[in-house]
Amino acid sequence: MIEKISKLRDTAIGRIKEAVSSTEVEELRVKLLGKKGELTEMLKDLKNMDIEERKQFGQEANALKNELTEIIEGKFKELSANDVKKSLSSGSNFDISLPGTNFKLGSLHPVTIVQKEIERIFTGMGFNIVDGPEAEEEFFNFEALNIPKHHPARDMQDTYWLENGSLLRTHTSPCQVRAMQKYGAPLKVIAPGRCFRNESTDASHENTFFQLEGMMIDKNVSIANLIYVMKLLLSEVFQRDVKIRLRPGFFPFVEPGFELDLNCMICGGKGCPTCKHSGWIELLPCGMVHPNVLRYGGIDPEEYTGFAFGLGLTRLAMMKYGISDIRVLNSGDLRAMEQFSVR
Ligand code: PHE
Repeated sequence: MIEKISKLRDTAIGRIKEAVSSTEVEELRVKLLGKKGELTEMLKDLKNMDIEERKQFGQEANALKNELTEIIEGKFKELSANDVKKSLSSGSNFDISLPGTNFKLGSLHPVTIVQKEIERIFTGMGFNIVDGPEAEEEFFNFEALNIPKHHPARDMQDTYWLENGSLLRTHTSPCQVRAMQKYGAPLKVIAPGRCFRNESTDASHENTFFQLEGMMIDKNVSIANLIYVMKLLLSEVFQRDVKIRLRPGFFPFVEPGFELDLNCMICGGKGCPTCKHSGWIELLPCGMVHPNVLRYGGIDPEEYTGFAFGLGLTRLAMMKYGISDIRVLNSGDLRAMEQFSVR
């Protein structure tokens, strides 16, 4: 066996040295080291050997593989250097010192960058990522979230209606009910996505924006779990320990409902124009899932509890990158977008 290896070594090295083109070297590489290459084939005999023989043969074969790989790489380099020399001396018009064509590489949209970052954080905590339709049924967008017809809360979320009675979803919250119906309890999901509202646009209002819904349901889930998860999320996003506070806030699908405020990062809570001199920035609404909503999702509120939150992805991206006009994000203006060159 060992003899076979040393024979292969001698012929292989000779063949590589004699090769005159990169294609030839590549062919040799496949023939020797490829999946069905000569050396690979030899290794198949390993299983028929006894332990001592197998050990020795394995070592020799590996050493040969490394040696050949090195020689092949060297040969590739040598040949490509030769190619350049040849084309220089052939008097052709090819000038290797001319600058090349600069390809414009695309980059991710700032909202996508923030979305991916948050997905990474939540999947690390065992959450699954779910999706829902942008053209949503009235039932999921409103009724199932405890917002019956004629409830005044519908006025805050005016949207675009389709002729078939569906609507462009006003938030990602319909994904809560869809996820509960599909997966049941216990449940840990996030749902990022595009939302729509019938708004006149200005620097802080858009008719099209992104949210990221989150929901956790299990036995004995409490506000303490909500606070812990939110603090962890925000300290990861902002890469430092953050101070938060909860204020009461009303949303028909959570009870109790909260507005979560973030201690202002700019002034450290002393008060500045960014936080309107309050020391706090209103960041995300959240709360404990309303029993009616659990029921619509097919989950027994006597057995399970849960929290939910709605994170404004667009808003977070604006904060993170200091973008002061929301309209920039949908404008398709490359001068603005290409600054965020995370790929
Ligand atoms: N869906 C709500 C909105 O867009 C936000 C929210 C989500 C509030 C989850 C509480 C819990 O206004």
